[in-house]
Amino acid sequence: IRHIGILTGGGDCPGLNAVIRAISKTAINYGVEVIGFIDGFKGLVENRYIQLDLRAVSGISHTGGTILGTSNRDNPFQFFTISEGTPQHSDESDRAVANMEHLGLDGLVVIGGDGSLNIADRFAEKGVPIVGVPKTIDNDLSATDVTFGFNTAVNTASEALDRLHTTAESHHRVMVLEVMGRYAGWIALHAGISGGADVILIPEIPYNMDAVISKITQRYRQGKNFSIIVVAEGAIPEDGEMVIRNLVATSHDPIRLGGIGQKVAEDIGNRLQNIEVRVTVLGHLQRGGSPIPYDRILSTRYGVAAVDAFMAGQFGTMVSLRGDMIAAVPIKEAIKEIRRVKPESDLVRAARAVGISFGDKY
Ligand code: F6P
Repeated sequence: IRHIGILTGGGDCPGLNAVIRAISKTAINYGVEVIGFIDGFKGLVENRYIQLDLRAVSGISHTGGTILGTSNRDNPFQFFTISEGTPQHSDESDRAVANMEHLGLDGLVVIGGDGSLNIADRFAEKGVPIVGVPKTIDNDLSATDVTFGFNTAVNTASEALDRLHTTAESHHRVMVLEVMGRYAGWIALHAGISGGADVILIPEIPYNMDAVISKITQRYRQGKNFSIIVVAEGAIPEDGEMVIRNLVATSHDPIRLGGIGQKVAEDIGNRLQNIEVRVTVLGHLQRGGSPIPYDRILSTRYGVAAVDAFMAGQFGTMVSLRGDMIAAVPIKEAIKEIRRVKPESDLVRAARAVGISFGDKY
C-alpha cells in the first residue's frame, strides 16, 4: 500500500476532522501518501481532491465540520446532475473507479454513516479495496457500540435541556425539545436521562398522549409545576403515523422544518389549556461545532485503526468499537440493519426507575 484516498460522505458530524488527521498522520508514518476527495463521493466522481500532508491536517482535531467538505445527494451509482434545467441520475461508478486507478490509489477510506457505507460496500463489490469509519450523530449503525459524533450531539442536547430547565421552572411551563436521530431514539434517550427529562418520546416506543398528559398532571399534583419533554424526531404516536417531515429522504430536501416536536407541543397545549407550552427544535446545532474530548479520542482511534486495517489487507471492512477494543468488521455487518433502542434494555429500565415516562402505558 503506497497511496490511499479518503472522503467524508453524508451529513457532517463532530469528529470528522480528527479522523482525517489521524488517518493522514498514521499513513504518512507508514510512508503512505494520502489524498482527500472534496465534497464526498461527488469529488470522487469529478476527480476533485487535495493532498493531505502533515501541514494540511495540522491543528484540526478539535474543529467541527470537515475540511474536505461533504455532500448528501451524490451517490456515484445514481449520480445527480442537472442538464439543461432537467434533473438526471446516471451510474458514474465506473468513472469513479477509473479516477482512482488513474491516481494510482491502492484503496479508499470512506468516513460515513449508513448511506455512505452502503455506497462503499458497492464499490467493494466492484473490487475497490475499501475501509469504512462509522460516522453519525444518530448512533444507529450495527456492528459497533458507538459511532463518533454521537456523544457530542448528546452533550449539546443535554446542555440545551439544562437551559430549558431553568426557564421552564421560572415560568411554570411545559418545555418540549425536539432532537435528531432519524429512525432511532439514541440521542433523545441519552440526553433525556442526562438532562433530567420527565418524558422521553422515541420511535422504538410509540407514545400515547394520555400517558404524557397524565405524567405532566401527576407532576403538578406533586407541586412540580413545570415539565421537560424530549421528543426524538422519529417519535411515533401509538394511534398515528410518522408525521416527521423530511425524514425519509432528508438529504434531498432543500428546506428542513421542525416536525413531531411541534405536534406534541400542540397536543399538550390543546389538552391542558391553563398551562403554557413552548417548543424548541435543536436541529443542526447537534451536528455543528467542536467535538467533545470523547469524540476526539474515538475519532483518532478509528482513524489509526482504518490505516492499520489497510496495511493488514482487511478490505471491505469497517472499524468498530466493541467494549474497549477497536476491530475491523465486515461492512455488510454494519449496514445490514439500523441499530435502534431496545425497549427492554437496561438503559430504558434505568430511565423508568428514576421516574421518566416514555409516554406508554407502562
Ligand atoms: O443522520 C444525521 C442527521 O442529522 C439526522 O439526525 C437527521 O435526520 C438528518 O441527518 C438531517 O439531515 P439534513 O442535514 O439533510 O437536514
